[in-house]
Amino acid sequence: MPQELAIATCGVCDGTVEEFLDLGRQPLSDAFREPDSDADEFFFRLAVGQCESCTMVQLIESVPREKMFHEDYPYHSSGSAVMRAHFASVARRFLDTELTGPDPLIVEMGCNDGVMLSEIHRAGVRHLGFEPSGGVAEAARAKGIRVRTAFFEDSTAAQVRAEEGPAQVVFAANTMCHIPYPDSIFRGVDALLASDGVFVFEDPYLGDVVAKTSFDQIYDEHFFLFSAHSVRAMARRHGFELVDVERLPVHGGEVRYTLARAGRRAPGAAVAALLAEEDARGLSDIDTLRGFADKVIRVRDDLVELLRRLRTDGSRVVAYGATAKSATVTNFCDIGPELVSYVCDSTPAKQHRLTPGKHIPVRPPTAFRDPYPDYALLFAWNHAEEIMANEQEFRRSGGRWISYVPNVRVL
Ligand code: SAH
Ligand code: TYD
Ligand code: ZN
Repeated sequence: MPQELAIATCGVCDGTVEEFLDLGRQPLSDAFREPDSDADEFFFRLAVGQCESCTMVQLIESVPREKMFHEDYPYHSSGSAVMRAHFASVARRFLDTELTGPDPLIVEMGCNDGVMLSEIHRAGVRHLGFEPSGGVAEAARAKGIRVRTAFFEDSTAAQVRAEEGPAQVVFAANTMCHIPYPDSIFRGVDALLASDGVFVFEDPYLGDVVAKTSFDQIYDEHFFLFSAHSVRAMARRHGFELVDVERLPVHGGEVRYTLARAGRRAPGAAVAALLAEEDARGLSDIDTLRGFADKVIRVRDDLVELLRRLRTDGSRVVAYGATAKSATVTNFCDIGPELVSYVCDSTPAKQHRLTPGKHIPVRPPTAFRDPYPDYALLFAWNHAEEIMANEQEFRRSGGRWISYVPNVRVL
């Protein structure tokens, strides 16, 4: 499987990938560091390009998967109430539609701590999660969910097909875009999926990233940035058709793609509509992506200028949300503890550690109030509503939020 090698050929179709944005030397985005550690940090070159042939937007270099997904993978999906509600509604929809036959089976790749499957489990429906990161897999198991601590790929999927029979649904949220080996995934889905089953995945949408200049959606784990055009091309290579798309508000703008075996289901009107919208926006044109790259540089320059000015003024600035996304921001913009004193985050596995690369201390949200800073840079901008609702007192005390999506401004 292609994991070790940097690629300049497309991960989907073997076409040539043309680079349009270089975000420089970057660490693993979820490698939070013990303060007393003197271990070497892993770095790679984070650059993005587009396949000249199938239009897929992707990283130029991939990071070996075991370096990212392991026992200590710190991201817990259930950390956000909004995301818990989102995935409960995803599960209920499957229960009401695809999972109504006799003894149905749903398989999820990247089930993490069971944020979606817990609802399926509660309904007593047969399910299986694939989760290679041992710590979060164990958190799912503690909720009674059936989980294999393994990567979903051709061999592991075929094994499940042999043991459990066909699945009516294969689902993946924020996981397909993490996987630079889609050939193996599609072989696995082909082996596992019932003849009339659906393969459904939702991931950050290229259209939203370009519209919001949210370049922080680009980091080691986000190998692909999907569009309806590129996903349809990928599906067709593997005997599948894109039959539905839904725009989702979560994580700053995503699309849910529904794939069925070619000829089994007719594509809905939403597919043609999104394809037409992408054409009208020039979303598959390299010039559009180069224009996006120019805006990224502007955001970086504006953000650094603002933070330097606040430091000169003597303002106290911290950040909120030790997101994987923020590794790209801090390392690309060269923002360290001299500009942002610490980052507050509710995830125990990140607290009292240092952010990857720039080594900003991570503290629990209680530190935010003790006392409130003058400014808080919102790294978890995709959870803005939830965080601002929880932290209303900050603004009342005179504090101001700073956002850099879609541009740099004090809120
Ligand atoms: N579905 C959750 C988790 C997303 S994080 C959510 O939307 O919040 C991505 C997860 O995919 C991680 O937990 C990681 O361990 C897992 N993962 C990465 N590669 C995988 C693969 N090949 N098969 C299954 N899971 C994988
Ligand atoms: P998220 O933006 O979901 O993902 P990623 O790491 O892939 O960029 O991460 C949100 C982070 O913000 C996560 O570490 C938890 C933290 N968080 C809080 O500290 N407080 C909150 O109220 C919420 C919703 C999240
Ligand atoms: Zn390609």
